[in-house]
Amino acid sequence: EVPADLAGRHVVISAGGTREPLDPVRFLGNRSSGKQGYALARTAAARGARVTLVAANSALAAPGGVDVVPVETAVQLREAVLKAASDADAVVMAAAVADFRPAVYAPGKIKKHGTADPEPVALVRNPDILAELATDRPRAGQIVVGFAAETDDVLANGRAKLARKRCDLLVVNEVGTDKTFGAEENEAVVLGADGSETSVPYGPKEALSDTVWDLVALRFPDPGAG
Ligand code: C5P
Repeated sequence: EVPADLAGRHVVISAGGTREPLDPVRFLGNRSSGKQGYALARTAAARGARVTLVAANSALAAPGGVDVVPVETAVQLREAVLKAASDADAVVMAAAVADFRPAVYAPGKIKKHGTADPEPVALVRNPDILAELATDRPRAGQIVVGFAAETDDVLANGRAKLARKRCDLLVVNEVGTDKTFGAEENEAVVLGADGSETSVPYGPKEALSDTVWDLVALRFPDPGAG
């Protein structure tokens, strides 16, 4: 029996990885599968929440009862998340958002131009959606959760990132080689702005998701309907 402790709550989750187009047929992207974000959506729905899943380029099937908003780029993901966040109790940014996008979008396919060397691709910075949301909460008392993939000094880098982004919780994964991206299982430490540290052993992404919802529910400023 799953507790309906998120009943009456609206949660917004971003999942997948953004694609930043160079021209109509090419993009800069990343290897995020969307599995962690979809697991967060499934578990939140099972616990009674109304769920908006902003999904960037994921091939996964929409979970039942979840409102899926498909997006492609970081700018589109920002628009969709901010719109859904206006009445959300919690926002969980599980998507891999590109830090940079091509400065110029070529409306026609970029040509090879004979034997000339290619032009370098100029990049511009994308908005940091997590930092923006956490700094300027669309709704008072909203809980904001980020994810961070680190390759070294996982806890120290995670703590610094949590402070920089001003989120309430940061789920820190160690990445590298075959770990995490595209995998069915995950291992993480969830850092709290209050100094808490919750280790989640290697296991299904649903288990990590349930721990995230436990920690979010503890931080809601008012008692829920569940
Ligand atoms: O800074 P870094 O990319 O490591 O931070 C990862 C966290 O920030 C994730 O929660 C990701 O969804 C979010 N993020 C964002 N906007 C960006 C880059 C990352 O919201 N432009």
